[in-house]
Amino acid sequence: MKLLVTGGLGFIGSNFILDILLRFPNYEIINIDAEIEGSSHNNLKDIKKNRKYKFVKGNITNQLLIDKLISKVDIVFNFAAESHVDRSILSPKNFIKSNIVGMFTILESVRKYKKKLIQISTDEVFGSINKGSASEESHLNPSSPYSSSKASAELLVNSYVKTYGIEAIVTRCTNNFGPRQHTEKLIPRIILFAKNDQKIPIYGSGKAVRDWIYVKDHCNAIIEIYKSGKWGESYNISANNEMDNITIVKKILKILGKPSDLFYHTEDRPGHDLRYSLDSSKIRKQLKWKTEFGFDDALEQTVNWYLSNKNLLKKVNSKTLAPIPWKSGTK
Ligand SMILES: NC(=O)c1ccc[n+]([C@@H]2O[C@H](COP(=O)([O-])OP(=O)(O)OC[C@H]3O[C@@H](n4cnc5c(N)ncnc54)[C@H](O)[C@@H]3O)[C@@H](O)[C@H]2O)c1
Repeated sequence: MKLLVTGGLGFIGSNFILDILLRFPNYEIINIDAEIEGSSHNNLKDIKKNRKYKFVKGNITNQLLIDKLISKVDIVFNFAAESHVDRSILSPKNFIKSNIVGMFTILESVRKYKKKLIQISTDEVFGSINKGSASEESHLNPSSPYSSSKASAELLVNSYVKTYGIEAIVTRCTNNFGPRQHTEKLIPRIILFAKNDQKIPIYGSGKAVRDWIYVKDHCNAIIEIYKSGKWGESYNISANNEMDNITIVKKILKILGKPSDLFYHTEDRPGHDLRYSLDSSKIRKQLKWKTEFGFDDALEQTVNWYLSNKNLLKKVNSKTLAPIPWKSGTK
């Protein structure tokens, strides 16, 4: 089996490649990544010499390159995306290019060469959920340029399934945490601020609720969907760990033995969704998937991974630890 993984130098893509090579050592993987924000070669340094793994530097909007790569594989896992909501608010253009034009480019190729596709999407496409949880059938109602670009990608996939009969599945997952995540994201940022004894900036009231899943549970779910999911369908993935941001901050401060009030409130993110929540009963019932990692243990392991990663800690500077300047930066 030959796989094309896009965005494999990023957080989830790199964890996925490592899991696949461990569980299916005979599979061959090509990883295409444009090496933009979020990517790091350090994430996959341990498999550099693995003969089953090949890295190609390139952009998923490059049709010639994508055609060449997709024609050689059996299935595409599309992780590549501009992924940071804050950056999508400051500068949305690249999100449209990578997340929508990139999706279109991949779909054209998948259609041409009749290959399978798994599109990695997000709970954010449903927007803020006041009550209950979004099911696979709930309507898309995204709030940020990031989530609307991911919703657009999903709609394109859907149209190619219906119009051209391609074999594709959309997976939607909640907020991931774990090793190899870029330091601009919430949990690594909290760890780095706290480790440096700096007060952690928290958007608004800190009451925004996210449902957290350990990245390895997400990767296992994608593998389960790849093995037994139904083509043409979508699957929600969640671990039922809904928590507000203040709770996460306090848990990390406790693990690090820092004062519980080492944070302050900043101006809220524009269009900040208050709560995301997914109903993941479909994947649990139909594919018998379940989480393996408890939240508190996985969070502690994640904190320890960042603390022991000397290369990453060396790169932390005043820019990494600066709050987002919404008013001056919003374009
Ligand atoms: N992180 C989460 O909590 C979360 C939750 C649900 C879904 N997702 C989705 O999972 C996927 C991976 O997220 P992540 O957190 O690992 O993001 P990430 O930012 O860590 O990694 C994304 C990778 O994609 C690459 N990339 C971006 N645009 C590209 C392009 N045009 N061509 C080639 N490579 C490109 C980047 O260089 C980077 O290595 C994304 O599609 C994201 O929407 C993430």
